[in-house]
Amino acid sequence: MSKLARIHNVHFVKSSSRVNECPETDLPEFAFIGRSNVGKSSLINMLCDRKDLAKTSSKPGKTKLINHFEVDESWCLVDLPGYGYASVSKKERETWPKMIRNYLLQRENLYALFVLIDIRLKPQPIDLEFIQQLGEGEIPFSIVFTKQDKLKPSEASANVKAFKRAMLENWESLPPIFITSSTKKYGGEELLTYIRGIIEEARA
Ligand code: GTP
Ligand code: MG
Repeated sequence: MSKLARIHNVHFVKSSSRVNECPETDLPEFAFIGRSNVGKSSLINMLCDRKDLAKTSSKPGKTKLINHFEVDESWCLVDLPGYGYASVSKKERETWPKMIRNYLLQRENLYALFVLIDIRLKPQPIDLEFIQQLGEGEIPFSIVFTKQDKLKPSEASANVKAFKRAMLENWESLPPIFITSSTKKYGGEELLTYIRGIIEEARA
């Protein structure tokens, strides 16, 4: 990653169990969502060039709260709990748990949401369903494929293509799409440039 694109300083602000406990700030906020274990917390660490800023685990269900991190005193990254983790109760397992739904629908300074998709998988109904609900809630989002290092390029592009095809069954156009690997530190610069572009646009 070039020096210019780097995040200079970042600090943990707080963990909140509901949207009205979230920090009182109007800084632009960028949140990461996706199935448990897809790599949300790892991606935040990659973007910040820090190993353990957001807690990660090889077991799904690690992140349980809404975690705010403030970047360069000017914007926030938000690590959210995953959806679809099979060993929590059925109610919590739904793709649209109350904590997430209220945060996504009510957080006024949420500038963009990134939906993370494991690049190794064929299109999963649970992800497509989640995205569908975003559409119904008119919540703008981008797609970020994770774990790019786990596949050969040809397999990765076949899965990305299949996902696009599945989305186009319900959507007229595709959102911005990013491909990343937190392990290999791949794709972070594009994401940061995109985030900074949104912030600049809003300021203009
Ligand atoms: P929850 O908080 O449980 O919802 O999970 P999460 O989406 O935050 O996932 P997390 O970042 O904790 O990563 C889950 C596991 O995937 C960990 O073992 C990570 O090391 C691994 N992982 C995350 N990103 C990558 C990646 O890009 N490549 C590889 N190979 N492994 C990754
Ligand atoms: Mg996590």
